[in-house]
Amino acid sequence: MARDRPLFSLFLVLNFMVTAFSTLKFSRDDFPPDFIFGSGTSAYQVEGAAFQDGRTPSIWDTFTHAGNVHGDTGDIACDEYHKYKEDVKLMVDTGLDAYRFSISWSRIIPDGRGPVNPKGLAYYNNLINELINHGIQPHVTLFHIDLPQVLEDEYGGWVSRRIVRDFTEYADVCFGEFGDRVLYWTTVNEGNVIALGGYDSGIIPPQRCSPPFGLNLCTKGNSSTEPYIVGHHILLAHASVVRLYKKKYQAKQQGFVGINVFAYWLVPLTNMTEDIVATEIAQRFFLGWFVDALVFGDYPDIVKKRAGTRIPAFTKQESKQVKGSFDFIGINHYNTLSIKNNPEKLKMDHRDFNADVGVDTIFMQGDSLPQQLPPRAWALQAVLEYFKQFYGNPPIYIHENGQQTPHNASLDDLGRVKYLQEYIGSVLDAVRNGSNARGYFTWSFLDVLELLDGFRSSYGLYYVDLDDPDLKRYPKLSAYWYSGFLKGRNITPDGAIDSKKNKIALSSDQYIQ
Ligand SMILES: *[C@@H]1O[C@H](CO)[C@@H](O)[C@H](O)[C@H]1NC(C)=O
Ligand SMILES: *[C@@H]1O[C@H](CO)[C@@H](O)[C@H](O)[C@H]1NC(C)=O
Ligand SMILES: *[C@@H]1O[C@H](CO)[C@@H](O)[C@H](O)[C@H]1NC(C)=O
Ligand SMILES: *[C@@H]1O[C@H](CO)[C@@H](O)[C@H](O)[C@H]1NC(C)=O
Repeated sequence: MARDRPLFSLFLVLNFMVTAFSTLKFSRDDFPPDFIFGSGTSAYQVEGAAFQDGRTPSIWDTFTHAGNVHGDTGDIACDEYHKYKEDVKLMVDTGLDAYRFSISWSRIIPDGRGPVNPKGLAYYNNLINELINHGIQPHVTLFHIDLPQVLEDEYGGWVSRRIVRDFTEYADVCFGEFGDRVLYWTTVNEGNVIALGGYDSGIIPPQRCSPPFGLNLCTKGNSSTEPYIVGHHILLAHASVVRLYKKKYQAKQQGFVGINVFAYWLVPLTNMTEDIVATEIAQRFFLGWFVDALVFGDYPDIVKKRAGTRIPAFTKQESKQVKGSFDFIGINHYNTLSIKNNPEKLKMDHRDFNADVGVDTIFMQGDSLPQQLPPRAWALQAVLEYFKQFYGNPPIYIHENGQQTPHNASLDDLGRVKYLQEYIGSVLDAVRNGSNARGYFTWSFLDVLELLDGFRSSYGLYYVDLDDPDLKRYPKLSAYWYSGFLKGRNITPDGAIDSKKNKIALSSDQYIQ
């Protein structure tokens, strides 16, 4: 079994980083013909209409309404709920193959389980039809943080195993109603971040954590145990939904189902062996926790050893169900962390996940605002290479990758143009070296409500004027660049100049200098 391979494999993975080159001159014809390019959003971040047509609050509404993101909320967001036709037109103008969005569970099933809301179904049917009629593939995520608040209140949401049944029933509704047109389904977005952010540090909904871990904001939770319990339930719920899809829908609908994980790239802070080994261990925790379970049917040995009884064990039957329960794996990649071994953390009496990893993590420069620094595109290539070498090269969709800038930054977002160019080039390098990557979605299509930063910072190809009651969208330079790339123009190292030329090609009346 390839699980917990000898640590020296790390050297294989790390060696090429130094020599990795970034392809800068390429066109989309250099990618395999069926490689798809798109862009994404998620329900709560873009839809608005939060209290309209029967939708009930999710834990994300609760989080924003408690003032956690500078008072910003998704009550209106980008109002895609009412402006989806306009947005699909922008997608067509841009030349996207695919749009990645998520379904709001509490819009479809306002009580979390039971009766289905016809107005909720109607909205997604309209959006899906609009996309299909314009030749854009819908790639749909079932769960993007926004658990119906009613299930959180009733039994603690993901902390309870009861979530498996309710999530499966919700998925059943979505497959049954939309699966004749939606061929790409992702069960859960960033399961590892949900478990850590929501239940260890408590910085994201539902804000559970316990002292001395996490923020002092939490009123309940247990940072030592809940991240592992929640991770376990996410994997079981995912596997249950995949089993349902394969049994009841896949033969007829001919679609694909997968899950999404957040993937850091990690590099040792120094060349000392202890940091190199610690880096490999950290990747067993951050990524292997979920991906080992999905690929091999169990958690990494080092994770089980350090978490002890705090991590639930898979029964034989569960292990069988989780193992191989995907047609693809989606990855969200933004950051690279430097890893320094810190054995002191393992000596703590009570540990959380982060203490179990036994390292200090340092965000590499350039991963937080301002991001005018050069992107580290090779890190995405390295992540893809890691999936290839460690996990037998499963089909991968890069579901999120993008650059954060202040919301009010210039529409001439040359930095984002360079970012896209380098990261897409790095995906091309990985594909050329045998990676099974099948598609790339840049985050985000519009300037959406960001999880931690509200509307202060943005990743969008399209700026949304929040002061305009009509929330008008304006293409940034990056939208022109991406469009030029998607429409087959050669992309040179001077991407900006190409983008400017390409302005003529987009319906440029909306462009403001
Ligand atoms: C967390 O759960 C563990 C195991 O049940 C327990 O030993 C520990 O005291 C709990 N911690 C808190 C803060 O409740
Ligand atoms: C580690 O060694 C490599 C090769 O000698 C070198 O290029 C790199 O800069 C070193 N990294 C650190 C963090 O010292
Ligand atoms: C953008 O917003 C920040 C914070 O509100 C402000 O300090 C800055 O001056 C603004 N920049 C521009 C270009 O308007
Ligand atoms: C390309 O793939 C080979 C075989 O998996 C691997 O040994 C090599 O390190 C990869 N090169 C890069 C630059 O990733």
